[in-house]
Amino acid sequence: MLSNIQAKLLIVDDLPENLLALEALIKREDRMVYKALSADEALSLLLQHEFAMAILDVQMPGMNGFELAELMRGTEKTKNIPIVFVSAAGRELNYAFKGYESGAVDFLHKPLDIHAVKSKVNVFVDLYRQSKAMKQQVDALEQSRREQEALLQQLQSTQLELEQAVRMRDDFMSIVAHEVRTPLNGLILETQLRKMHLARGNAAAFTLDKMHAMVDRDERQIKSLIRLIEDMLDVSRIRTGKLSIRPTRFDLSALVRNLLQNFAPQIDAAESSVTLDAEHPVYGNWDEFRIEQVISNLLTNALRYGAKSPISVRVYSEHDQALVEVRDQGIGIDQENQKRIFQQFERVTARHAVAGLGLGLFISEQIVTAHGGSITVESRIGEGALFRVCLPL
Ligand SMILES: Nc1ncnc2c1ncn2[C@@H]1O[C@H](COP(=O)(O)OP(=O)(O)OP(=O)(O)O)[C@@H](O)[C@H]1O
Ligand SMILES: [Mg+2]
Repeated sequence: MLSNIQAKLLIVDDLPENLLALEALIKREDRMVYKALSADEALSLLLQHEFAMAILDVQMPGMNGFELAELMRGTEKTKNIPIVFVSAAGRELNYAFKGYESGAVDFLHKPLDIHAVKSKVNVFVDLYRQSKAMKQQVDALEQSRREQEALLQQLQSTQLELEQAVRMRDDFMSIVAHEVRTPLNGLILETQLRKMHLARGNAAAFTLDKMHAMVDRDERQIKSLIRLIEDMLDVSRIRTGKLSIRPTRFDLSALVRNLLQNFAPQIDAAESSVTLDAEHPVYGNWDEFRIEQVISNLLTNALRYGAKSPISVRVYSEHDQALVEVRDQGIGIDQENQKRIFQQFERVTARHAVAGLGLGLFISEQIVTAHGGSITVESRIGEGALFRVCLPL
């Protein structure tokens, strides 16, 4: 394991034959020996490599071994490299070099004792490898700690998302239950009333015009149930990426005109009025059913939140875009909520105060985006709202 760690050794001596002899002594397969003939050469090698130890000849022309060691001590990269000085002088000179940072300083004397050289080098190389291995372990530990931390954060955010999802589901269930109950209550009440009339043989309750009104009421309730279910299905289609767009060529102006005719009863019921400005035909390739769904949602919203104000609708083309604008003069939406309302289940109005699941704009935006278009809102609180749908021509 430890011997996998490569150890580089630096030997410095001004005599080539000394270098060769020393190299032969300390060379092993798992070590690389670098030779320098002068302090200058040694310095440039020191800057290029990371050495396990350096063996410096003390007596060299130019910069001697002690001076080189001084320089090494002053440099961050080299200051911890253990140094072994080789000197021919007496032992008292050995202490001329003091205070080397790492304390890892040792001496060898000429003529070299083969055994002493080998064992000193072994000791330093082992030390180097051990500290290297330790550092690798510390690094690995630090790395795994960081990974754990990241994992923990991920877990925490997943947990938050889950909690949010559960809350949303609970909210959604209670809204859906409320929304479904309203038309169902209407229907069940009607049915009970009719049963009562039948039990009493009250034929006058079933005249032709009364039947007409009954069927109309039933149809409205059933349609609103179907719409709820369709909206929920659309959300799940959007989630699973299965909301398909089937484009055909049609006139957007004509579509809006027809739609407004169908909306007449709702407009009456909301005590509002709608004016249409759609002078020119605007032809394009879009999914007619889906675009009708978008505009019908904008109209429903304008009627719901328009506070009985007159509503104006405009269809026109500009550059290479087709535009539909639905403008009301109702309660309006403040800046902050304008982004929120396009998200699913997001509503400004207090829950249950006004009918709706908070899905209309979410679905509309998804449909328009799937066409390569966009839907925007301009509004200020109390000053009504303008919703604009842009579709590529
Ligand atoms: N014209 C408008 N004026 C004021 N507020 C609006 C208008 N249109 C939408 N909003 C606000 O944006 C919210 C989201 O609208 P969205 O159509 O997505 O849902 P909804 O109408 O509440 O329910 P759903 O459309 O699912 O029946 C509404 O609840 C309302 O608070
Ligand atoms: Mg709506």
